[in-house]
Amino acid sequence: MKATFHGHACFVLERDGKRVIIDPFLTGNPAAVVGPDKLPHLDAILLTHGHGDHLGDAVALSQKHRATIVATYELAQFCADQGGTSHAMHIGGAHEFPFGTVKLVPAFHGGQVEGDTTGRYTTNPAGVVVTMGGKTVYHTGDTALTLEMQLLAGPPRVDLMLVPIGDNYTMGVADAARAVEFVKPKSVIPMHYNTWDIIKADPAEFRRLVGSTSAVTILKPGESFTLS
Ligand code: NI
Ligand code: MN
Repeated sequence: MKATFHGHACFVLERDGKRVIIDPFLTGNPAAVVGPDKLPHLDAILLTHGHGDHLGDAVALSQKHRATIVATYELAQFCADQGGTSHAMHIGGAHEFPFGTVKLVPAFHGGQVEGDTTGRYTTNPAGVVVTMGGKTVYHTGDTALTLEMQLLAGPPRVDLMLVPIGDNYTMGVADAARAVEFVKPKSVIPMHYNTWDIIKADPAEFRRLVGSTSAVTILKPGESFTLS
């Protein structure tokens, strides 16, 4: 599987000719090096929550690629009402899609949906566990450090964990390193930092704190990591 970082919390995962994007915040993302028009074909769009820096270009990409948005029920409903195609799930549930399996897991964060003036789409934020061709990726979404993460320690081990380190809105480097200790993934990539000054963080410090628990790969936007 290939994981490409597009800045902030946005990743594209590719395996066996299938491609999904997680939290497609490209328009207005100061860290992104590609715009939404430059992405190759997408089979699905996975959302952790409805904040603007995660929902991003989801509806436009869903329309362009005829790609299904996978999210919690309320957020999936919002995307459908905005003209996207969506598949509703909820925390604790898994579903098998043509590209692989998605399970939504708990995240402690805010649930407001960007662009919702009614408040009726406010939902639980989620982490996303996606398995494609036997490789499992855990994108924590925006979250605090939670004991629930220990439930993901396996076996089988998570192959790749994507974890926020920017502090202020999410875990900072120290809590993120503890989250890695809880989950014990084979590999980890830090995210959700340095997009703006308020979430400035040092990924080398995160790597030092993780130590030998997991292999830390630090990606610049546009760079990819291949899981062997
Ligand atoms: Ni958020
Ligand atoms: Mn965020």
